[in-house]
Amino acid sequence: MDGRSFSKRKQASVLFVPCWQGRKPTLACKEPLLKYVKEAISTGDFTGKANSTCLIYPKGAKEKRILLIGLGEKNKVSVESLRKSYATAVTVSKGKHKAHTANVLFPEISSLEREKMVQGVSEGLLLANYEFSELKGEGSKKDPIQLFKSFSLMGLDKEDLSYALRAKDLIQSVNLARDVVNKNADDMTPQKIASVAKEIAKREKAVKVKVMGKKELEKEGLGLLLAVGRASIPDPLLIFVHYEGDPDSKESIAVVGKGISYDTGGLSLKPTPSMLGMKSDMGGAGAVLGIIDAAAKLKVKKNLIGVIPSTENSIGSKSYKIGDVYTAYNGKTVEITNTDAEGRLALADALSYTAKNYKPTMMIDLATLTGACVVALGEQYSALFTSNKAILKGMEKASLETGDLAWPLPLHSDYMRILKSDFADFANAGTREGGSITAALFLQEFTGGIPWAHLDIAGPAFPSKPFGYNPKNATGAGVRLVVEFLDKFALSELG
Ligand code: BES
Ligand code: MN
Ligand code: ZN
Repeated sequence: MDGRSFSKRKQASVLFVPCWQGRKPTLACKEPLLKYVKEAISTGDFTGKANSTCLIYPKGAKEKRILLIGLGEKNKVSVESLRKSYATAVTVSKGKHKAHTANVLFPEISSLEREKMVQGVSEGLLLANYEFSELKGEGSKKDPIQLFKSFSLMGLDKEDLSYALRAKDLIQSVNLARDVVNKNADDMTPQKIASVAKEIAKREKAVKVKVMGKKELEKEGLGLLLAVGRASIPDPLLIFVHYEGDPDSKESIAVVGKGISYDTGGLSLKPTPSMLGMKSDMGGAGAVLGIIDAAAKLKVKKNLIGVIPSTENSIGSKSYKIGDVYTAYNGKTVEITNTDAEGRLALADALSYTAKNYKPTMMIDLATLTGACVVALGEQYSALFTSNKAILKGMEKASLETGDLAWPLPLHSDYMRILKSDFADFANAGTREGGSITAALFLQEFTGGIPWAHLDIAGPAFPSKPFGYNPKNATGAGVRLVVEFLDKFALSELG
């Protein structure tokens, strides 16, 4: 991605030209090759409607193609609408013709800060320019879906370019999270997740990794994480990824991600259709790695502790048992009423271990925690649970700004009655009703009173259909949301 003045532009496979919607669409940028564009517009084939495009084959231009991009109505434009419009341009090009490079024109918008405009366009282009093709066979390698090799950004000054480069860093971290989830579960074991963390630490001086192995987990008494991992061949791990972005401050924020490398359901075995997507059960872990990676590159001024409890939830003769009681790190006892409610167990130990040993100022966890959440909010929204008003406000802002959406659900303690147990302090699973609320309440028992928010990313982490700039399968949900939150949130707001 490089910025160059338009007149000096290099050859490219396609030129992206933004247009506003109107009775007759109008150019949203300085006129490049007006004659071709006018002709196309006059046919009435293209209205400039948001997320519509029109392909032109100009003669004598530096590009073989011009793609008109509809931005919609001028007074409705936003960072998010720009992301979507430019993402559509990439999606259309990579699907239909063999585009390799694009010259990109930016819209001129007075209602949006220059930074937001450049950010929206750049993020849209890069978020859509992703494919996971590593696992395709030789046959399809001959004719792969062509991604853009580069985007030449036209007419940007030095400051603009810094916004675009920030977007590039951020989206690379989103793609890191996507890759972690999309890879074979058999390859992305807890040990491999730890090695991805170590790769980040190798690149970034402010990042340090510490891994607790099975022996240490036993010694320290993380009984719930160990229970989930009992039938797994790879050992369970608790992975810490520290990022020191504010050495002068003693405050820190823990970002905890569910890292179930594969969720069979355990003895409460999932039926095949439900198990099919369960390599995505490390979506929270992928997000944490992406968040730390991004924070380090963007030099976010916060001290972060990434925490990933990681294990496979497998079935076998060593599986933890339905009806048995296991003891958590914080001493609470849990009756296992469903081994498929394993994420909350792994997270419970991670949260209480982190709370006790690091005493962070705030904890945020991300987890593909419940199917109930997908039923409630669908595949676009994560659910946000918190009883802290400042965190709620900050998250709502970050959600709106990034389009990495989260919506609050209630954390009402009355619902804890659903997790009542005859034998233990509580059960790990209740009835279907309010399933994502009881899961969140379960986690709350392990937060040690530290200000905390829980993001259930089960819907958007691994959607069944592509939408906007998000591909089908792993999206990296939560990375942009939490990075924006961390970047803008002042810890003093916690009160
Ligand atoms: N990983 C699943 C949740 C999930 C389901 C994520 C669908 C993404 C898509 C989780 O471990 C799980 O199995 N939860 C159970 C909880 C129940 C047993 C209380 C569920 O949602 O059915
Ligand atoms: Mn499960
Ligand atoms: Zn799970």
